Amino acid sequence: MERDSLIISLEDISFSYSGDKLVLDHLSFQLRRGDRIGLVGPNGSGKTTVFHIIMGLLRPSSGRIELFGKPAREEEEFRGARKRIGLLFQDADDQLFCPTVLEDVAFGPLNLGKSPEEARDIASRTLAGLDLSGFENRITYKLSGGEKRLVSLATVLAMDPEVLLLDEPTNGLDEQTEGKITDILTGLDLSCIFISHNLDFLMRATDSIYAMANGKISLDEALAAHPHIHTHEFGRLPHKHER
Ligand SMILES: Nc1ncnc2c1ncn2[C@@H]1O[C@H](COP(=O)(O)OP(=O)(O)O)[C@@H](O)[C@H]1O
Ligand SMILES: [Mg+2]
Repeated sequence: MERDSLIISLEDISFSYSGDKLVLDHLSFQLRRGDRIGLVGPNGSGKTTVFHIIMGLLRPSSGRIELFGKPAREEEEFRGARKRIGLLFQDADDQLFCPTVLEDVAFGPLNLGKSPEEARDIASRTLAGLDLSGFENRITYKLSGGEKRLVSLATVLAMDPEVLLLDEPTNGLDEQTEGKITDILTGLDLSCIFISHNLDFLMRATDSIYAMANGKISLDEALAAHPHIHTHEFGRLPHKHER
């Protein structure tokens, strides 16, 4: 598929969970190949819902979805697209369900038809790339929040997706790990949408930032390449910036 071709197109999408209040209200949005988009917005504004609509985990009450240039309406149509889109869930416990880390990371490649040996290889390599060598036999549910976040990211990357939808990827990570993940994500030549409240991260990892409000997504002009004052721990004390 060519650069700039439409990968995700949402047109006039409306959705509500309970029937009364519209979470998505005639929302339109497009992702083109090569786009790196940040998505910000208050808690409860519907960001996670948009990801679940794109993946076909929720169905809109009206509007049209096209994925990779084809209409997506039925489960069958979403299933094909899901293999090409990597979704990092906001809550790692929704992502990880196997007893051990290796099984969790190998699950995706196995599902895509790799042999057990290939899947183990891919899983080990992906873990190593995230500095998680040695985690293979760790018990998933005993990991810390930040470790679960990283293993979740490994399960997504192991599937070698064409598009990344990451829902708050830096949540729960310490500053050093966040820096490392930012480097990794910035180095990937993928189309992506990152939901985050972390503007430092979004400024580095994305090219444009969209804001979600009133059930719609719009380009946030105020956040387009604009110098900012950042804050971090011990920020008031003299310190050096390493990056
Ligand atoms: N499964 C659900 N059932 C009912 N309401 C939900 C459900 N998931 C989310 N909501 C509501 O939908 C709105 C949007 O949620 P969400 O997409 O998670 O927002 P965000 O990711 O921007 O914080 C919120 O008001 C939330 O309470
Ligand atoms: Mg959310």
